[in-house]
Amino acid sequence: MDMKTEILRLLRESGDYISGQEFCRRFGVSRTAVWKAVNQLKEEGYGIEAVQNKGYRLRSNPDVLSSSELKSRIQNQWAGNRIYFYEETGSTNIDAKRLGEEGAEHGTVVVADKQSAGRGRRGRSWQSPAGKDIYFTILLRPPFLPGKAAGLTLVMALSVAQAIEGACSLKTGIKWPNDVVLNGKKICGILTEMNVETDYIQHVVIGVGINVNLDVMPEEISRTATSILLESGRETARAELLQEVLARFEENYGMYERDLDLRDMLEEYNGRLVNLGKQVRVLDPKGEFEGIARGIDASGELLVETQDKNTVRVYAGEVSVRGMYGYV
Ligand code: BTN
Repeated sequence: MDMKTEILRLLRESGDYISGQEFCRRFGVSRTAVWKAVNQLKEEGYGIEAVQNKGYRLRSNPDVLSSSELKSRIQNQWAGNRIYFYEETGSTNIDAKRLGEEGAEHGTVVVADKQSAGRGRRGRSWQSPAGKDIYFTILLRPPFLPGKAAGLTLVMALSVAQAIEGACSLKTGIKWPNDVVLNGKKICGILTEMNVETDYIQHVVIGVGINVNLDVMPEEISRTATSILLESGRETARAELLQEVLARFEENYGMYERDLDLRDMLEEYNGRLVNLGKQVRVLDPKGEFEGIARGIDASGELLVETQDKNTVRVYAGEVSVRGMYGYV
């Protein structure tokens, strides 16, 4: 961590004044060097007050998304240990895939404040304006077979749902396989892409878009999508939420890698499943059908009970489901 990032972390953690002298001693630098670093933080939007004989204090917890903010917060074993932050990029998934080709390590995270060509599933685009939402992609190098990768998307959906509950105290649901839902509308989408060599995973990238502080939903998606701000009336510090997502993901991924299935997350996932017990239409390329969603099994497949009481297992990689009465 560089000095500026470390100063930020110390101020946030203490919540009180820390003297300039203390920083000088700790980093072995001059007062001017400390003052310069503090000024840079101010320019990035932090309210830092300087009081004579007391020192510096971090006044507010603004919604700053920057390299220092993220690095000063994220202290996981591997998830987000290496962060690439861009004010603007095309798509963090594309960046992460490039880093994957270049040999970047497991857990590398790309974050952007804005995407000019954000991508959604099924060739759709993902609107990604600046200063409002979270767009990030994590690069993984799982040791398991490609067939197990689809489950990772569900692991991420659960991690995002848990993190929103932890950081924003809001109870979110999951629409199978991987949309996170608040009050029946989508607030998070996940796009997983994989690079496979015969039966070996080169790398997987999981891209996550969370509608956080968006105050006006674009007309064309307002029926099915919303944001944390619109539902709760409160702004969320994006870095704090992202920190929480990565911490949860690291923990959940650990269980998935150990068990090679979702057994230890099953109960919680199904507890959040908004499709549970609902009539769904399964858009299977081999033939569409309807049934009642009965939850997922440990492999992440959705169990759908058809009218003739057969249970069909629906694989997350190939099909999607539609609610019969609107988005959920
Ligand atoms: C969906 O269609 O539901 C998936 C949307 C995924 C959007 C995220 S934003 C960060 C990452 N970069 C992209 O270009 N897409 C994903």
